[in-house]
Amino acid sequence: MTTKRSVVVGCGSYLPSRVLTNADLVDMVDTSDAWIAQRTGITERHIAAPGELTSDLALHAARAALDAAALDPKEIDLIVLGTATPDNTFPASAVTVQAGLGITQGVAFDVQAVCSGFVFALATADNFLKNGAFKHALVIGAETFSRILDWKDRTTCVLFGDGAGAIVLRAEPAPNSQNSRGVLATSLRSDGRYKDKLYVDGGPSSTGTAGHLRMEGRDVFRHAVAGTGDAVESVFGATGYAAGDVDWFVPHQANQRIIDGAANRLGIAPEKVISTVERHGNTSAASIPLALDAAILDGRIKPGDLVLLQAVGGGFTWGAALVRW
Ligand code: ACO
Repeated sequence: MTTKRSVVVGCGSYLPSRVLTNADLVDMVDTSDAWIAQRTGITERHIAAPGELTSDLALHAARAALDAAALDPKEIDLIVLGTATPDNTFPASAVTVQAGLGITQGVAFDVQAVCSGFVFALATADNFLKNGAFKHALVIGAETFSRILDWKDRTTCVLFGDGAGAIVLRAEPAPNSQNSRGVLATSLRSDGRYKDKLYVDGGPSSTGTAGHLRMEGRDVFRHAVAGTGDAVESVFGATGYAAGDVDWFVPHQANQRIIDGAANRLGIAPEKVISTVERHGNTSAASIPLALDAAILDGRIKPGDLVLLQAVGGGFTWGAALVRW
């Protein structure tokens, strides 16, 4: 039985210091700033330093979110980390973050849904909090996609970047009103028939190597724009809200054309769309919390706003969350 609601009490993010511009990529593969900018909207992305791991990025973002929440790490009893680029095959990078924060209570684990990882992690944490199992959750998206890119493949290496973002959720008594703050609804989907459209050609059980990202770009594009609306319809159906009620739409930051296409199909006005893809590239599970934090820091997203999150990624996986911020 649902007795609680998960309220967002803090958000933080982290980007590695090294910036890789489109001009830098021209020296690496046969491409141009104009091609990348026109097809994707990306002009630069951040790349983790040698030895800087996904858990390091996640730890920075987690600390920033805890600071924003003014919460001692010892209050956290659940960490869910969305990542497709963990430090090691095991243990989960979430336990490295847990140890880095000095937390010895509760539970920490990773969720693997590629670019949908943050929304999957949020829905997972929300369900635990709603049911009273835990009190404070850190939900993190963190990636070092630079480590699984084929830097000779111009069709993929120009698209991605590294980074991390995190939010802190607190379980509070469930109010009756949708106007009260908290996660109002989440919806997750996957369809494994499309698992070969976007994948990494390695892994512990197949090649014994980490492998490189491979993608059928046009099919991914089509699905990302046209095939993911059911999750958004589901969160609207569960809450009674519609596109016109949304204050801010924060989609996965894959590509500006995908973001524009998805917003247009949903009927969300361009001025309500948060986009950071130009400066971050596609940071997979980190992209939504990075975009959230940017829009909080510049004053756009404020407490009480109705925020729609939408993600899509390899699998295919996709999902949505409607949050009264
Ligand atoms: N620079 C210059 N030319 C390039 C590059 C590049 N970096 N990459 C491909 N090209 C060339 C191709 O070789 C092709 O040349 P050809 O006509 O001589 O064969 C031409 O550009 C057109 O290639 P297309 O693949 O047809 O280009 P398209 O318009 O489909 O754009 C893109 C490619 C940007 C990858 C697009 O398909 C896309 O955005 N797909 C979605 C992929 C995505 O965002 N994935 C992220 C992961 S998925 C997720 O996060 C949900």
